[in-house]
Amino acid sequence: MIKVVFLGRSTDVPRLAQLARGGNAGFAVVEPGDPGARQAEVAVCWRPEPGALAAYPRLRLIHGIAAGVDNILCDPQLPRVPLCRVVATDLADGMSEFATWGALLYHRNLDRTLANQRLHRWQRVPQQPAARTRVGIMGMGVLGSRVAADLQRLGFSVHGWARRPKALDGVRCHAGADALGPFLAQTDILVCLLPLTAETRGILNRATLQQLPRGAALIHVGRGDHMVTADVQRLLEEGHLRGALVDVFEHEPLPADSPLWDTSNLIVTPHIASTADNAGVLEQIAENVRRLQAGKPLLNLVDPALGY
Ligand SMILES: NC(=O)c1ccc[n+]([C@@H]2O[C@H](COP(=O)([O-])OP(=O)(O)OC[C@H]3O[C@@H](n4cnc5c(N)ncnc54)[C@H](OP(=O)(O)O)[C@@H]3O)[C@@H](O)[C@H]2O)c1
Repeated sequence: MIKVVFLGRSTDVPRLAQLARGGNAGFAVVEPGDPGARQAEVAVCWRPEPGALAAYPRLRLIHGIAAGVDNILCDPQLPRVPLCRVVATDLADGMSEFATWGALLYHRNLDRTLANQRLHRWQRVPQQPAARTRVGIMGMGVLGSRVAADLQRLGFSVHGWARRPKALDGVRCHAGADALGPFLAQTDILVCLLPLTAETRGILNRATLQQLPRGAALIHVGRGDHMVTADVQRLLEEGHLRGALVDVFEHEPLPADSPLWDTSNLIVTPHIASTADNAGVLEQIAENVRRLQAGKPLLNLVDPALGY
């Protein structure tokens, strides 16, 4: 039976290994110290130690356990074998719920209303129709497109930005680096759903965010390294950003002494925007292992040159 090694720095990896052992996954589960582990042909991982994957000479497939694979591609000794990621309906459902919550928070001025409550101030902050609130989504892939479609159905004026042109009903799509400025200039609520790559690292910086209209809000659900923290803090202080809902951080867990916890108008959530159910993740891995053995095309392959 084909051996699949589970490795990486996350409690989700041993949990998945346990689930695979308990069920009928159709492969043999091994962990790095197990006898014969070096014979593994598939590795399932999250944030493997740099160089750890290179210790498996028979590897034919590396499988991530999440949508993003930056945590694997950053390994300088990454074996040159196919890399697959997770694409799951429940992941998109959860992301859509989270982004919708954030969009409604700012669109309905609930951030201001909650601040007023703390001051015991009764103030009916004026509302506007959703069609007048422009939501801009950076990253129009599996998750961004789903968020865009759901917000568009709620009546928001939605547009998106990606590398390549897209056609999505009722959603204007901008493509490429040259389109970033015009996209930002028309965005009241910016949602970041980009993958972390060499091109997107640090993209939420002062120069970018300054192109948003004054008073815009940020919903950051991509990766911590997209955001230049000091720039966002300064833009909040200056009032250029009216608020930021931030789910992902450069260092996770966010250290207890991080100033971000106490930054005015910044909401910290602990990387909870969305997670896929473990049983579904395991089923995707098992399907790709079956495909590998049958010589069929793998699902949800990552392009290592693009980094997503
Ligand atoms: N916070 C959470 O709980 C959580 C949960 C899941 C995922 N995430 C994050 O969400 C990210 C997106 O997931 P996904 O499944 O939607 O990814 P995806 O399907 O690979 O989509 C990525 C999108 O980003 C665009 N993109 C990539 N590089 C770009 C660039 N340089 N300029 C402009 N657009 C660029 C792509 O453009 P093209 O379409 O033109 O290729 C694509 O539209 C993940 O990588 C992960 O970091 C966060």
